[in-house]
Amino acid sequence: MKIDILTLFPEMFAPLEHSIVGKAKDKGLLDIRYHNFRDYAEKARHVDDEPYGGGQGMLLRAQPIFDCIEALEKKEKPRVLLLDPAGRRFDQAFAEELAQEEQLIFICGHYEGYDERIKTLVTDEVSLGDFVLTGGELAAMTMVDATVRLIPEVIGKEASHQDDSFSSGLLEYPQYTRPYDFRGMVVPDVLMSGHHENIRLWRLEQSLKKTLERRPDLLEQYQMTEETAQILDTIQSEKWRESIYQAFDLMDQGDLQGALALLDCLEVSERSSAYYDYLSTYGYVYAELGQTEAALASYQLYLNKAQAEQNHSHQHQAYHQLAMVYRMAGDYTAAQEQLAHEEQLIRRHFRKNHLIWAVHLYEVGYLTYLLGDNGRAETIMQKSLDHALQTDDSVAQACAYRGLGEILSNRDYLEKAHALFSSLDDARGAQDVHELLTNLPSSDA
Ligand SMILES: C[S@@+](CC[C@H](N)C(=O)[O-])C[C@H]1O[C@@H](n2cnc3c(N)ncnc32)[C@H](O)[C@@H]1O
Repeated sequence: MKIDILTLFPEMFAPLEHSIVGKAKDKGLLDIRYHNFRDYAEKARHVDDEPYGGGQGMLLRAQPIFDCIEALEKKEKPRVLLLDPAGRRFDQAFAEELAQEEQLIFICGHYEGYDERIKTLVTDEVSLGDFVLTGGELAAMTMVDATVRLIPEVIGKEASHQDDSFSSGLLEYPQYTRPYDFRGMVVPDVLMSGHHENIRLWRLEQSLKKTLERRPDLLEQYQMTEETAQILDTIQSEKWRESIYQAFDLMDQGDLQGALALLDCLEVSERSSAYYDYLSTYGYVYAELGQTEAALASYQLYLNKAQAEQNHSHQHQAYHQLAMVYRMAGDYTAAQEQLAHEEQLIRRHFRKNHLIWAVHLYEVGYLTYLLGDNGRAETIMQKSLDHALQTDDSVAQACAYRGLGEILSNRDYLEKAHALFSSLDDARGAQDVHELLTNLPSSDA
């Protein structure tokens, strides 16, 4: 590649004599020449003049630059780059484009800017970034460095820049070299495993994670494959889930408006697996706020997604939550309808699942109790407890004890429920049972 640099300060380019660019020159892969356009100035070597119409500072005159460029040895169609903060922002894609060229000509500005007519000579106006340097030299050097390392044979193994940040369209993954343990900081296990496929996946995931955190704008341009889209969905879903759990905690602490505001800020994609958690948390918050319609709408969306995906476990959750919201709103008939759907689904897909039966029967039993049939409610709640005791799920057991305790006004059951909720750190559950216990008629009476 041939590079010509028009500058008033050729000596500033000494750094390009070293390292990889210097070696590329020594190997004959690169021919860089510097041209001081002051040498071409007709008027007593003056390269600048005042702007027409007045204004601050001096401008580079057209004549020295025109004459200098005309005197250059030129290949066919050289790329002529004018350094200018108002130009196209330089980036890796631009460097890759320039690395394909046979000749680059850089024009480094100084003072306040250029006579506009100089721009008729150029193919590209290019900026290093959104800041103003005193001259174009440092910008040109940066661009030469980024471009030259992309020329085949300049860097030994071509692959070594294919993984660079931006080359792949993503930021680069973290890397480690010996020793394995440096001051207690150890290398991730996967890199020590020798399992190439796992290492490749880990690196891809780390790159996607870093890019999502630091430069989400890059992902808009990124050519997604099915694999990267899936990994990104998992990463993004994890992030959303963290915020959703935060909203859940706020709700638990009684800050319903805070929880709602947090959920409103999240733009969880319908395709994401976190969408279920998102909708169900919305549903909970609305139900707690007494906004039945909104709660039902959230769970209906949840049900629609579960049905579209034929996800039976989520369908079961949806029926269950819809039944709860109807029950809380006092519409017991609608609640029963949802529980009937749930029962059908359980019979078809979760017949032997004790936990699912325990949770379902608790709700059926409680509803029956609210409908005034204490005898049947007790039988159903007892079944819920039997199923719960076949699992090691303390929540299901606590709920069933609570249900039986309330139906039978039984202190022992309520105390068992209280102990279980307390051991689970479920303050709301424990408080609720505590109130039932305080309202029990005293045993002496
Ligand atoms: C002081 S600057 C002139 C700034 C000009 N008045 C403006 O506001 O755009 C002098 C020269 O430095 C170079 N320069 C300054 N900032 C640059 C950047 N971000 N990218 C590329 N070249 C830059 C350009 O060649 C520019 O003509």
